[in-house]
Amino acid sequence: MTRILITSALPYINGIKHLGTLAGSMLPADVFARFQRALGRETLYLCATDEHGTPTELAAAEAGLDPATFCAQQHDVQYDLGRKFGLSWDHFGRSSSPQNHRLTQRFARELWEAGFIEERVTQQVYSNADKRFLPDRYVIGTCPHCGYEAARGDQCENCTRVLDPADLIKPRSAVSGSDDIEIRPSKHLFLRQSLFADKLRLWIDGKKGDWPLLVTSIALKWLDEGLQDRGITRDLEWGVPVNAHEWGPNPHGGLPDIEGLAGKVFYVWFDAPIEYIGATWEWADAKAAEEGRAPPADAVWERWWRGPEAADVTYVEFMGKDNVPFHTVGFPCTLIGVNEKLEAEGGWRPASNSPWKLVDRLKGFNWLDYYGGKFSTSQKRGVFMDHALELLPADYWRWWVTANTPETSDATFTWEQFQAQVNADLADVLGNFVNRILKFTETRFEGVVPSGGAPGELETKLEADVAAKLVELTELMEAMEFRKSAQALRQLWVLGNQYLTEAAPWTAIKTDPARAAVAVRYGLNLVALFAKVSEPFIPFSAETIATAVGEGFPGRWPQPQGALSILPEGRAVKAPEVLFRKVEDAQVAEWRARFGGPEEA
Ligand code: MF3
Ligand code: ZN
Repeated sequence: MTRILITSALPYINGIKHLGTLAGSMLPADVFARFQRALGRETLYLCATDEHGTPTELAAAEAGLDPATFCAQQHDVQYDLGRKFGLSWDHFGRSSSPQNHRLTQRFARELWEAGFIEERVTQQVYSNADKRFLPDRYVIGTCPHCGYEAARGDQCENCTRVLDPADLIKPRSAVSGSDDIEIRPSKHLFLRQSLFADKLRLWIDGKKGDWPLLVTSIALKWLDEGLQDRGITRDLEWGVPVNAHEWGPNPHGGLPDIEGLAGKVFYVWFDAPIEYIGATWEWADAKAAEEGRAPPADAVWERWWRGPEAADVTYVEFMGKDNVPFHTVGFPCTLIGVNEKLEAEGGWRPASNSPWKLVDRLKGFNWLDYYGGKFSTSQKRGVFMDHALELLPADYWRWWVTANTPETSDATFTWEQFQAQVNADLADVLGNFVNRILKFTETRFEGVVPSGGAPGELETKLEADVAAKLVELTELMEAMEFRKSAQALRQLWVLGNQYLTEAAPWTAIKTDPARAAVAVRYGLNLVALFAKVSEPFIPFSAETIATAVGEGFPGRWPQPQGALSILPEGRAVKAPEVLFRKVEDAQVAEWRARFGGPEEA
């Protein structure tokens, strides 16, 4: 029996996420998790907020809060929105959790002890006015190449040249605008990633044909450009302290106090992916607390990540393409380094000394944009999760986003296309079908699944068509082809509509009631089938539909054989309230004006 571990890229704590973030990690991960659970596989779907780093410190300051308070609030906001979108996380953790602090310090210690971490003195920009070191992109000035006056210290947006803050003419702080800045030496730790280049290449080469081409090509490009050692510490306050004792006792150990590193923290991209493991630990702790048990031993959650116990785990990661380098190179380097150390210490023994799992299947996505341009928080351009739910139920968004998953290329949201698609697929095809057959059952068959009559040619054909489409859908879901899966699901709904139109129980009832009974029975079974296969995509509506025909929820993923023999004859059924209201032209006009339309692209 396979167990499935699923993570989606951790959303930054700062700000409410837009549809693009949903499309490029959280939603497909959820659709896949729901599908795996429906197959009956033990599934763990984890996510968390990514809380550390300079942008968090600045956002907290702007909100007049300390980072800890700010993050706690924002975490709750994101958790709440995720739940309302039906994201079925087993746990939604925090990269600032004590569990992640412990793991991050422990991994750093192991890498240090193995000699994979090096101390280096670097030159950093310090702002006297802001009393803080500034990351490259928070230093702005005039580009030496093109003269653009607001070039960032990491790159000029205008001519796209890569820069060093020292290149800028008239450099100043992006935080305060002050030009009272200076270069100061500052000691940092570097992970010697270059040592693992060959191992990484071998590993990634082995994933060709299995991972999307987008993913392997990004990863190999990074390796081809020569793997650089990576700075894993920063001059910040909010983060996992480098000197372990500054945080508190850690039974798993951390780095010794290293001179010149007091008060510094690990780089956010070092600790954030470790939170995938941290969230697993948080999940186990939370579960124990809920059940009134003491915190579980490490082995309880480590069985998802290491040792012979994890041999049956398939680990699947979801992310946007910008995240691919960190997940194919950065995080794997951390784990490979730790694993090499464990191996050098006398081989991999079970449990406490066994290697950590690397990702098995990595699904990367292109961008979803808004009228061909970027979603923008600062310009209030595009649809964000909170506003989306004010306008329409979650399933409308889930359906549209999944059906338009940016898999092979970028995809774009427009209100017009959104309206056309949800009206056609959800209201006209699925909603209409469910309502039609259930209403008819109520008026002509006393609201119960009718018995009697023998299936004929139409039903034989329907069963064959449905079975074939179901096989196709199941294969596409296993392959994580979301856009095509949505297409196959829609085709299944269409099959139902076509059948009902041909079988026409409303006509048959006048001349051949037994024939009408057969058609209604098949129609109702189609409804039950739709509830099961639609659940990963539109869980809220799927539940309503399942309830309408007296089925439990969430159900099991159906087998092609017997897919239309779900409901017992005589079962009472009841038409639901309108499942999907159509999106009106007037609404589209209003929303386009409110959220920005093509004219501003
Ligand atoms: N917060 C990052 C982003 O939104 C993703 C972090 S993924 C993690 O781009 F694994 F590193 F946490
Ligand atoms: Zn320039």
